[in-house]
Amino acid sequence: MANNNNSNGTGLTAEQLQKEFREHSVAEFFKKNKQMLGLTGKIRTLTTIVHEYVTNSLDACEEAHVLPEITVKITELGNEYYEVMVQDNGPGLTEETVGKAFGKLLAGTKFHRRIQQRGQQGIGAAGATMLALGTTGKPIQVISGNGKKAFSASLTIDSKTNQPKIIKIDDFKKEFSGTAVKAKFKEIKYQRSEQGPFEYLRRTAISNPHTKITFIEPDGTKTVFNRTSKDIPDQPIEVPPHPHGMTVDELLEMTHITKARKVSAFLKSDFDRMGEKAIEEIQKNTHFDLNKDPKKLVWEEAEEITKTFKKITFIAPRTDGLRPIGEERIGKSMKEIVEPEFLSVVERKPTVYQGGFAFQVEACVGFGGNAGRTMGKDDEGTDVKKVEIMRFANRVPLLFDSGGCAITKAVQTVDWRRYGIKDVNSAPLTIFIHMLSVHIPYTGAGKQAVADEDEIMEELRLALMETGRKIYRYVAMKRREEEKQQKRKLFMKYATEVAIGLSGLTKEKKESIEKKLLQIVLHRLKIDESKTEQENAPEEMSEEEIKKENEKEKKQKEKVEKKQTKRKKLK
Ligand SMILES: Nc1ncnc2c1ncn2[C@@H]1O[C@H](COP(=O)(O)OP(=O)(O)OP(=O)(O)O)[C@@H](O)[C@H]1O
Ligand SMILES: [Mg+2]
Repeated sequence: MANNNNSNGTGLTAEQLQKEFREHSVAEFFKKNKQMLGLTGKIRTLTTIVHEYVTNSLDACEEAHVLPEITVKITELGNEYYEVMVQDNGPGLTEETVGKAFGKLLAGTKFHRRIQQRGQQGIGAAGATMLALGTTGKPIQVISGNGKKAFSASLTIDSKTNQPKIIKIDDFKKEFSGTAVKAKFKEIKYQRSEQGPFEYLRRTAISNPHTKITFIEPDGTKTVFNRTSKDIPDQPIEVPPHPHGMTVDELLEMTHITKARKVSAFLKSDFDRMGEKAIEEIQKNTHFDLNKDPKKLVWEEAEEITKTFKKITFIAPRTDGLRPIGEERIGKSMKEIVEPEFLSVVERKPTVYQGGFAFQVEACVGFGGNAGRTMGKDDEGTDVKKVEIMRFANRVPLLFDSGGCAITKAVQTVDWRRYGIKDVNSAPLTIFIHMLSVHIPYTGAGKQAVADEDEIMEELRLALMETGRKIYRYVAMKRREEEKQQKRKLFMKYATEVAIGLSGLTKEKKESIEKKLLQIVLHRLKIDESKTEQENAPEEMSEEEIKKENEKEKKQKEKVEKKQTKRKKLK
């Protein structure tokens, strides 16, 4: 290694530094920066490993259009030393693809397709293999088959070259359909905490009601999350990019893989909402013939095209590539797994955020019963509750980095008092929010928090407020019912004595007086009730008001940002 100073103390020359020049593979990079993949902290790392394997299984089953049956088993092998096994009934892999799938970073079937899937990057599975190798030195085991032919493989990753190293591959003699992966890891820890694998799988079961998940914990406890729906979600479809938000670089990249022979045909076939009129407009604004071969486009020409894109008013991007879970399925699943007393589910219409990406929000609030997190018992022995916020992106539970997530911010900025909930933090509520998109704007590569784009924030808040309205109606109804019962009780306490007294005075039968009194009070109760309802009803916000409030917040945010940049410039 070279010193920072050479012999005459003047620092290194370019020639001396040249000796230090190295190339690194992407695997070496991520090996050094594991935290970027969420592989940080002993509990979080284990949850991330389970998450990577399970999301792959679910994506694969969805592509093959089969009802997923997933088994997850975590076995303790020693101190902070575990084996993780995940098995699915998906389409399986081939002997040709298994190496790349589990032993090469940035390889897969999803990165290049604009499709609503759980995986996006092509690093999850190989990242886990790298961690197994880095902490135990051991290869991973994979069994995969399509029902007719199966094989078992033992493999690892060569981090210097980012290439798979197949140690052994054999025919698997038994009938096998799907993929099973088994890997050993050290420096991780199993815990049944809010951020552990149990909670991750419980939430995965809620957001994937068509999935059966069997989980075997290190102490042998077996939990089965049964499916509550037999409908396999429709396969998500690939959505071509919308011209708005397209960069020159992205456009040129698309020209390398297009099948079109002319730029005009390329624009028409590879973009969303591109009509003849738009192409005519582009031709008018560019200095080259659109009959040109797209592969021969140069930067300046591509720039002319993207500049013209911005001037044209295109129809809003397609939203039919989105696959929500659906109100009914979310409701059923929450009922079965959370067991609340009351449920309120809302599915918003798909819309678009900046850059032209379609997205949609689904929300469900469970109230009372077993909803909320139980934090212990108070002096009277009743459960002390805390709100439980379940965040999901493309059906994947997000357990970490909640503070910086748009979903958490949305929950915190809704005025829940308007919906009869005095303190949302200590309310017996389980709030489920699902944001789905062909491209989720995560705040980091760990994919745990959604960025607070204005349009996304607005939709999240609208969805929550809508659920709030339904909760309010239920809470008000419940309160009225309780008041009624209390008053009735009070009356029953005195009715008999009053009836005896009146009977003595009037000589009427005690029973008949008692009956009449009951009728009068019940009649009165009704009047009282309607009064309470009107008087106590807090003002509800209309969608218009919500939009106005969001607008105000947006302006305020812009103001703060402006001030900050001004301050930075002054510095
Ligand atoms: N259980 C499985 N069944 C079938 N194919 C799988 C399975 N697991 C992984 N694959 C294949 O291996 C590829 C690589 O998986 P990996 O998790 O590394 O990346 P990804 O899922 O594409 O993206 P991300 O890094 O965001 O998870 C996948 O794209 C998929 O084609
Ligand atoms: Mg994956």
